[in-house]
Amino acid sequence: MSTAEIIDGKAFAEGLRARIAEMAASFEQAAGRKAGLAVVLVGADPASEVYVRSKGKQTVACGMESFEYKLPADTSEADLLAMVEQLNADPAVDGILVQLPLPGHLDEQKIISTTNPDKDVDGFHVTNVGRLSTGLPGFVPCTPLGCIMLLRDRLGSLSGLEAVVIGRSNIVGKPMAQLLLAESCTVTIAHSRTKDLEGVVRRADIVVAAVGRPEMVKGSWIKPGATVIDVGINRIEGAEGKTKLVGDVDFASAASVAGAITPVPGGVGPMTIAVLLRNALVAAHRNAGVALDEASL
Ligand code: GUN
Repeated sequence: MSTAEIIDGKAFAEGLRARIAEMAASFEQAAGRKAGLAVVLVGADPASEVYVRSKGKQTVACGMESFEYKLPADTSEADLLAMVEQLNADPAVDGILVQLPLPGHLDEQKIISTTNPDKDVDGFHVTNVGRLSTGLPGFVPCTPLGCIMLLRDRLGSLSGLEAVVIGRSNIVGKPMAQLLLAESCTVTIAHSRTKDLEGVVRRADIVVAAVGRPEMVKGSWIKPGATVIDVGINRIEGAEGKTKLVGDVDFASAASVAGAITPVPGGVGPMTIAVLLRNALVAAHRNAGVALDEASL
């Protein structure tokens, strides 16, 4: 029985952050200022607070400026829009991230579409969605871009491979499919209404699972030798009433069939913030007119 190579996203993200730190230092030399990333958190969702704190620490550790704005949960839409406009106009701010999800009374699309697309380091603005789908330079959502980096690192060229993306969200599934298409994969997007999901997954050389259903994809569905990227982060009840994190893939059974697989935690998860810093540094170079070999990041 074969045993898959474990794709170490934590180590890859550390390497990426080291390259970012080097290039952030050269940017500071060239531009006479640090690259700046602004993060806006509305409300006090504990998971979001942890995430925002981690972003802030990693931004500073990479030699970039972190601007953090914590607004109360009852912030009005007008006030949040005014804050985004202020950040759009601030020359020290290269990238803007408004932490999602937002409290229910705030229209996420309206906030995203107010962000300057050239500061939209999340790649959520329709301008960046359009740029991605037409092959123009823009910003690509961090998690799917992180997945592509791991795939390229493991497989080299992805050209001609069969790729199946499970999940059709705007944040992961759809941009993931676009990125795989840009790498010349044959791409299928599967979702909750897909008939014979198992049969669709079985033909894939690359499986990207992003559905948010714990351990849904079984090892028996996987083509032997396939590369499996697990985007899911699900907290389930483990032994003795303790909770544990699992992905969308049943790791134990999949690891005995796949050629390579990302673990949860330690696979795709650590890539997201590292790619966010990468996007912010790219934004800084573009906004300041400083040259950067973007492919080297
Ligand atoms: N909430 C969880 N992940 C993300 C992310 O990548 N971007 C934003 N804006 N909010 C998030």
